[in-house]
Amino acid sequence: MGELINGRELADKMQSELKVEVNELAKSGIKPGLVVILVGDNPASKTYVKNKNIAAGKIGIHSKIEHVAETINEAELLTLIGKYNKDDQFHGILVQLPLPKHIDEEKILLAIDPEKDVDGFHPMNLGRLFINEPTMIPCTPYGIMKMFEAYDVDLEGKNAVVIGRSNIVGKPMSQLLLMENATVTIAHSKTKNLEAVAKEADILVVAIGRGHFVTKEFVKPGAVVIDVGMNHDENGKLIGDVKFDEVSELASYITPVPKGVGPMTITMLMYQTVQAAKKQK
Ligand code: GUN
Repeated sequence: MGELINGRELADKMQSELKVEVNELAKSGIKPGLVVILVGDNPASKTYVKNKNIAAGKIGIHSKIEHVAETINEAELLTLIGKYNKDDQFHGILVQLPLPKHIDEEKILLAIDPEKDVDGFHPMNLGRLFINEPTMIPCTPYGIMKMFEAYDVDLEGKNAVVIGRSNIVGKPMSQLLLMENATVTIAHSKTKNLEAVAKEADILVVAIGRGHFVTKEFVKPGAVVIDVGMNHDENGKLIGDVKFDEVSELASYITPVPKGVGPMTITMLMYQTVQAAKKQK
């Protein structure tokens, strides 16, 4: 049975440290601020945004949810972002994704001041990451790197397989692993012999977005398994992309869902908001 990587516990520890730092910053008149822009009423997005707001409150980060109707048009949303780009109360701006179909996501992400892009989704920040000069880093892969660090998972020379190729998880995850000298394979839903490819992994990061997709057949004994999935089963229960019960028998380390990667994503968002506030002062 593998050791659990307890994301909730690590997130709580890092958030307590951030709270101390925010208290210190207050003495020099710095109050980190985060605005989260939520478009429409997607229930999952609403939950994520609420959780971000709660975490900010606990740490002492000033946070605001700017909730706008689904019917907002692209120009109006761009104007709103322009307003927060200029507002020095807010050091971080996050636009919750996905956006409604009539809005061009790329255009919106490009409009956020890269210095306030605490999600790390702006093409400038992604570009910097890919030339080994990271500034703002997408929070989910960044949180996973913090987990590896906290649990002393050695990455150098290891075979890392990332299942999933999104701009916000799979691709930046691969780059961060590469920067730590892992040998990285990006696999995805169209990869041939995916089971065999995954089974080569010493480090397996799964972000494919399909509940219980990764079974024990995908996992080499002793592998470190990170589950980014947030799916709901037929009873509405939150489940990961990995079949935890059987895979945990083989893995050396494994993250659960919930209480794994999710809390770390939020923590890194808070961390980058505090960093942004220090830079912008
Ligand atoms: N939608 C799903 N995950 C995320 C995230 O980390 N940030 C934003 N802005 N939207 C998301």
